[in-house]
Amino acid sequence: AKYTLVDKDTCIACGACGATAPDLFDYDDEGIAHAILDDNQGITEIDGDLVDDLIDAEEGCPTESIKVADQPFHSHVNA
Ligand code: F3S
Repeated sequence: AKYTLVDKDTCIACGACGATAPDLFDYDDEGIAHAILDDNQGITEIDGDLVDDLIDAEEGCPTESIKVADQPFHSHVNA
């Protein structure tokens, strides 16, 4: 399984991630992205078809703000 969160400090609101993975990423009023499933905490397992979308989104983010790990994130600095 994979885990993900968005580094909101580096996201430039380009909008690619939500277009690529609409079940995983949404935006706030300013267009800054966050992970939908667990309010950007990076602690919810992502598996199945969503992993493909996740990797596409990770690779498509121009600022590498989509963080992906094999273990749950423990830091809440970006939440
Ligand atoms: Fe931001 Fe990257 Fe998504 S810049 S809007 S996290 S594709």
